[in-house]
Amino acid sequence: MPKKKFAKESATIMTEMVLPNDTNTLNNLMGGKLMHWLDVVAAIAAQKHSNRIVVTASADSISFKEPIALGNVVTLKSQVTRAFNSSMEVFIEVIAEDIPANKKIMTHRAFFTFVAVDQNGKPIEVPEVVPETPEEKEHYEGALRRRQLRLVLSQRMKPEDAVELKSIFNLPGTN
Ligand SMILES: CC(C)(COP(=O)(O)OP(=O)(O)OC[C@H]1O[C@@H](n2cnc3c(N)ncnc32)[C@H](O)[C@@H]1OP(=O)(O)O)[C@@H](O)C(=O)NCCC(=O)NCCS
Repeated sequence: MPKKKFAKESATIMTEMVLPNDTNTLNNLMGGKLMHWLDVVAAIAAQKHSNRIVVTASADSISFKEPIALGNVVTLKSQVTRAFNSSMEVFIEVIAEDIPANKKIMTHRAFFTFVAVDQNGKPIEVPEVVPETPEEKEHYEGALRRRQLRLVLSQRMKPEDAVELKSIFNLPGTN
């Protein structure tokens, strides 16, 4: 198993069409269906990075700004932004396309966290991520702050230990 892998090695693209069974009574895509697709496309990226079984540890807040209509084609792009010990943060971007109308909009962006596990479900180490492009570097830099926020919210980290997170608010006790 390599100790480091390029971020782009986990890049995954999944394309779906919104069918009648996927919609609410306004004929728009159900939020739960979109979350299922997000989970699948992100899990594939995490598997590509770790070459392991992965489980979803958390999904950051997802807001539904734009409805996605029946018949739209939905493209979900995912990539691992950064890996820690056993966990990996995955960035996902969602693009909805009305092909006959020639309209394409970016509807959602989300971050999910996956943990690589062994056959007994125990967390296992994953390779580091090497970011290359400016966007990959930006996501990599922000990942530590987002991780600390998640761990504080899930009461796995004391707020006073979240140094990277505190530093963006210029709170006392930070550099
Ligand atoms: C995720 C899981 C493997 C963590 O196991 P654990 O015994 O708590 O293990 P640890 O405390 O060693 O944590 C392992 C990693 O998970 C990360 N983690 C745990 N909970 C997290 C959360 N809520 N958000 C982000 N990361 C989290 C830890 O930070 C740690 O990361 P690191 O190894 O990179 O430092 C375990 O809670 C689990 O199996 N959960 C169920 C997963 C599942 O079924 N998902 C589908 C949802 S229905």
